[in-house]
Amino acid sequence: MARLSTLSRSIAGVGAIVTGAASGMGRATAHLFADEGARVVVADLGGERVDAVVDEIRDAHGEHAALGVVCDVADPAQLADLVARTVEWCGGITALVNNAGVSLVTSAFQPDDEFESNWARTLDVNLTAHARLIRLALPHLAASGAGRIVNIASTEAIVTTAGLAAYAASKAGVVGLTKSFAVELGRHGVTVNCICPGPILTGMTASIPDDAKETYARRRVPLRRYGIPEEVAQMTLNLCLPASSFVNGAVIPVDGGMTIRHT
Ligand code: NAI
Repeated sequence: MARLSTLSRSIAGVGAIVTGAASGMGRATAHLFADEGARVVVADLGGERVDAVVDEIRDAHGEHAALGVVCDVADPAQLADLVARTVEWCGGITALVNNAGVSLVTSAFQPDDEFESNWARTLDVNLTAHARLIRLALPHLAASGAGRIVNIASTEAIVTTAGLAAYAASKAGVVGLTKSFAVELGRHGVTVNCICPGPILTGMTASIPDDAKETYARRRVPLRRYGIPEEVAQMTLNLCLPASSFVNGAVIPVDGGMTIRHT
C-alpha cells in the first residue's frame, strides 16, 4: 500500500480570479497565487490601481502571470465580462476568490436615504456579487475537475459591531451562501469554503488610529495584534490547493483567536 497518496500542493498554471485584488488581502492573495505559479486575474475598481498590482506581478513572474480587469462586482454585466475575459486569457478557471468588499455605516439612527443606499450597496458588493460570480464561473470551475471557491466573510458574521448592520448581515449571508453552494456544487467537483478574517491591516482598517488598533487588539485578540494580509492569503491558498480536495463548506476564522475568546 502506498505510504501516501499523490495529492498535489501545486497550483502552477491554473487560472484564478481574485476580486478586490488592488488592495489589502486581495492584493496579497493575487501575489501569493502568482508566486505559486497560478495565472491570476486581478479584478477591482479603478484602472490605475489594478494596473499597479498587475505590473508588480508581471515584474516578478512575466507577462503571462497576471491580467487586470477593471470590474465593479455589483454590476452583473461587468461580472460576465470578467469571466469571459478570464477564460479567453487563460483557457479556464480553477479558483475563484470572492474577496471584494465594502464596510459602510448602517446604523439604526442614520438618515433614511443614507441607510438605504449604504444597505443596498453593502449587500450588492459583499453578498449578491459573490453568488452571481459563482454562478457565472461555475461551468468553468466544474470543467477544471478541481474547482475551488473561497469566499471572504468576516468575524463580523460571528461577533458584531454597532453601526455595521448591513456589513454584519452581508457577512453572515456569505457564510450561508458558502454552505448552501458547498452542498449543491460538491457533486460537480467544486468545493466552496469561507474565511472569516479578524482585524487585518488593510485599506479597510487604515483610517483607524494606531493607538485604537493597539487597544482593540490587546483587549480582544489573544495574539494581541492585527493580522497582516498574507496571513489570510495563505489560508486562501491552502483552500485552493488540489490537496484540499475534502475540505468543503468550511467556515474558517483567521482571527488570532478573537472569536473563541470569552473575556
Ligand atoms: P481593502 O479596502 O484593502 O480592499 C478591498 C478591495 O475591494 C479594494 O481594492 C476595493 O476597491 C475593492 N472593492 C470594493 N468594492 C468593489 C466593487 N464594487 N467591485 C470591485 N472591487 C471592489 O480591504 P480588505 O480588508 O483587504 O478587504 C478584503 C475583504 O476582507 C473584504 O471582503 C472585507 O470585508 C474583508 N474583511 C476585512 C477585514 C479587515 O480587518 N481588513 C476583516 C474581515 C473581513
